[in-house]
Amino acid sequence: MRSRISSFIMIPSFLSVIIFMLYVFFRSYDRISYLVHPITVSFLIITTISLWILEFINNLIFRKKLQFLAEEEKKKIFEENEGNYFYRFYKFIFHDPKKMSDGVKKIDHGFDGIIELDNQLPMWWVHLFYLTIVFSAIYFFSYLLMDFSNPYKEYEIAYKNQLKEIEIFEKNTPQATIENAFFKDHLINSGKILFDENCATCHQSDGSGNIGPNLTDDYWINTKEKDLFKNIFSIIWNGSDNNPTMRAFGKSGEIKGNDIEKISSYVYFINQKSKKPLIYKAPQGKKITEWSRI
Ligand code: HEC
Repeated sequence: MRSRISSFIMIPSFLSVIIFMLYVFFRSYDRISYLVHPITVSFLIITTISLWILEFINNLIFRKKLQFLAEEEKKKIFEENEGNYFYRFYKFIFHDPKKMSDGVKKIDHGFDGIIELDNQLPMWWVHLFYLTIVFSAIYFFSYLLMDFSNPYKEYEIAYKNQLKEIEIFEKNTPQATIENAFFKDHLINSGKILFDENCATCHQSDGSGNIGPNLTDDYWINTKEKDLFKNIFSIIWNGSDNNPTMRAFGKSGEIKGNDIEKISSYVYFINQKSKKPLIYKAPQGKKITEWSRI
């Protein structure tokens, strides 16, 4: 019997299934670039060539066989092979329209007068069914024995990639320094979040002071810069010279320049706004009204 599916349908579909499976498996290994690896490419080429050769040999055998067949059988085979490839393919997948009309087995259930037509299942259905069995077997074992589709492994890979991206982002993002940082309105909110995380334990969330001084009044212990914002930035960056409790967040690398700019914006904002906390720590340091005159 000659193969009813021509090679030019068979080969592309076969190859696309292989490529799809490779894609699915390698993707979970984070090695998708292996798909264009010389080994994979030559594997695909060799498969294509061997399929063509098989088809060719098959054809030869078929022709040889034809010579020894009786007239009647030959006629039957020619009938089966009539039409072009597409017609035969159609006949294979769906039903042979000729066979449908006659020769269908009828099952008489007798008691209810209903007669059941026992049509052959269409090939597309049968093959789809086989495909699901193969697919589930592949999926089952690869899920069981390999990292394929393993949520923990996928999480690990995604997490590592995320860390790498953050590292690259931080490397390529210039950090604010005391020279180029200045008060920005839109940084106040994110600055508050960072202040709550890093500073509120000693200064209170509203900056009214606790172990550390009140940051909302005009009294300052540390006055290293001639500008309030720069002074705040400088203390957070360098810490306090006279009290190590206020540590050098910037210098030690604990907080990056961009985040210090945000925190400084928040501190500057709560210091400058007219509404002050009701409860606050007693003033410490010098009262400063004009920073430029320090
Ligand atoms: C472990 C407690 C602690 C933490 C955490 C802390 N501070 Fe301080 N902070 C202090 C102390 C104590 C001082 C007083 C230093 C001195 O006497 O010179 C101070 C001083 C300051 C000053 C200068 C005040 C002045 O009058 O000179 C600023 C501004 C400041 N802190 C901001 C911050 C910010 C912003 C953070 C968070 C990134 C922070 N602090 C975290 C304890 C802390």
